[in-house]
Amino acid sequence: QRQRLVVTRTLPQASQARLEKGFEGIDIVQWREDRAIPRAELLNMAKGADGILCLLTDKIDAEVLDAAGPQLKVVSTMSVGYDHVNVPDLEARKVALGITPGVLTEATADTTVLLVLAAARRLREGVDAVIKGQWGTWSPTWLLGSQLTDKTVGIVGLGRIGVAVAKRLQAFGVRKFLYQGTRRKEETEKGITGAIVEFSEMDRLLRESDVICICCALNDKTKNMFDYDAFSKMKETVVFVNTARGGIVDQSGLIRALKENRLGSVGLDVTVPEPLPSDSELLSFPNCIVLPHIGSGTLETRTAMSEIAIENVLCGMKGERLPFPHNA
Ligand code: GLV
Ligand code: GLV
Repeated sequence: QRQRLVVTRTLPQASQARLEKGFEGIDIVQWREDRAIPRAELLNMAKGADGILCLLTDKIDAEVLDAAGPQLKVVSTMSVGYDHVNVPDLEARKVALGITPGVLTEATADTTVLLVLAAARRLREGVDAVIKGQWGTWSPTWLLGSQLTDKTVGIVGLGRIGVAVAKRLQAFGVRKFLYQGTRRKEETEKGITGAIVEFSEMDRLLRESDVICICCALNDKTKNMFDYDAFSKMKETVVFVNTARGGIVDQSGLIRALKENRLGSVGLDVTVPEPLPSDSELLSFPNCIVLPHIGSGTLETRTAMSEIAIENVLCGMKGERLPFPHNA
């Protein structure tokens, strides 16, 4: 009997070409517009699916799984984060969940460093000034930012991405890393040479860090972890960067802190909601730079992610162990 594979978007070219060549015994149905598949469309398309290859823009919950039916074996998301997937709903139906870890670590760490430097060196204000004809003269005092030399960087979530960020920032002369997470990781600490690395209480990390990078997953424990109270504890010169998930930050608290001039500069690749409406108050602060969730956005990385997502879904449909399950 033929199987049904549902794909919720057009994939990067190499992977899309693979889909179009087809797989033995599998019918592929695909949403081909480059916007998130509407919910009703997803529920309809999912009917009879053996495998679903989705993105982080698709909410996968009991309703989708039940629309698919009891033959559904696997959900494969083309992302490392899976906060858009209701894991207990999958477990209850014995549906496997595949993710794309590892391959996006370097690109996402690059984006994190990009935002740290862009925020610290006031990139948005500089670029705007040039475009608006406000570049008067070279000035000893104009657009002065801060640098990483001898500074303390707080990393929330010392996973693969957090470590890759630390290794990059260490090369900029950072003196000390304070990190926070579910537990101390002594082996990981040893891998970051040339700087002091300390597992730290959150309060100390907030008070002592010159730069704070969020590199953790969004879950019940991290949701709204950065609220007004947390921002109030940070240095007034802090460079705050989030490339993980918007929901880890209480955005109203962030906006209040920015209004009260409590933060040096902010760089965000993720927001609530996504896309962020262009009239969002968050975009009114010259010291806040927002990117449109492109942390993993290189051709190399996105291709590697879609290839893994295909491998995961094909293995799952055969009833085999996924190469990259969410709970590896
Ligand atoms: C991107 O945000 C991802 O989770 O892969
Ligand atoms: C994400 O994949 C991380 O390990 O930080």
